[in-house]
Amino acid sequence: MCKDVIIACDFSSKEELYAFLEKLGDQKPYLKVGMELYYKEGAPMVRELKAKGFKIFLDLKLHDIPNTVYKAMRNLGELGVDITNVHASGGIKMMAAALKGLREGAGDGAMPKLIAVTQLTSTDAETLKNELLIGETLENTVKHYALNAKAAGLDGVVCSPLEASIIKELGLMSVTPGIRLAGDSVDDQKRVTTPAKAREMGSTYIVVGRSITAAEDPREAYIKCTKEFKGE
Ligand code: C5P
Repeated sequence: MCKDVIIACDFSSKEELYAFLEKLGDQKPYLKVGMELYYKEGAPMVRELKAKGFKIFLDLKLHDIPNTVYKAMRNLGELGVDITNVHASGGIKMMAAALKGLREGAGDGAMPKLIAVTQLTSTDAETLKNELLIGETLENTVKHYALNAKAAGLDGVVCSPLEASIIKELGLMSVTPGIRLAGDSVDDQKRVTTPAKAREMGSTYIVVGRSITAAEDPREAYIKCTKEFKGE
């Protein structure tokens, strides 16, 4: 079940990303490309990375009316990425439209995994209740949104490793950020888990950013994370 470590490439340009990838030497990790990098470098960079043999999680968190998301996903499907995502709060129809678009875009190529963001980790109980006027607990909304994602035919969700076991019980895959190697700085993450703990909790993939990108030796940190997570 513990499939792989995905490195969060939170860089502002392709030059920065490529300088980082040089430091990984012979390693060809799974990369998470998010809004910052994608909105700067776009589809050509994603195609280039795929041609170099990297697996890509394109983390753009789409959220719009179903028809717009369908058309956007058709374009993303053509890129040959391995995982991409939407916001579950867009609803079941939007998620189903995303899946349809992705499938059409992928054509005869491999079908990417489609996952949903349940609640952002920046949303706490207070925000949920007083700003978003949602009376349910955070846990209940996460579980309910995950069930909606499943009903729409999606493969899984982005969540905290602490929620990975519930997600597994629902038969979905989990991609979990908020990971730190033991002894590393927590930075702005509120709740962090080590790769070994995430393995115990049942995460399918872990997303690791600064514990690898800001490490003195990123190659060594990546190998350590992978060994810990896969239990090798
Ligand atoms: O550097 P760090 O390991 O904290 O990076 C985590 C990555 O995962 C970042 O790209 C962040 O945007 C992303 N993420 C997160 N929490 C979520 C969803 C995504 O930390 N709930």
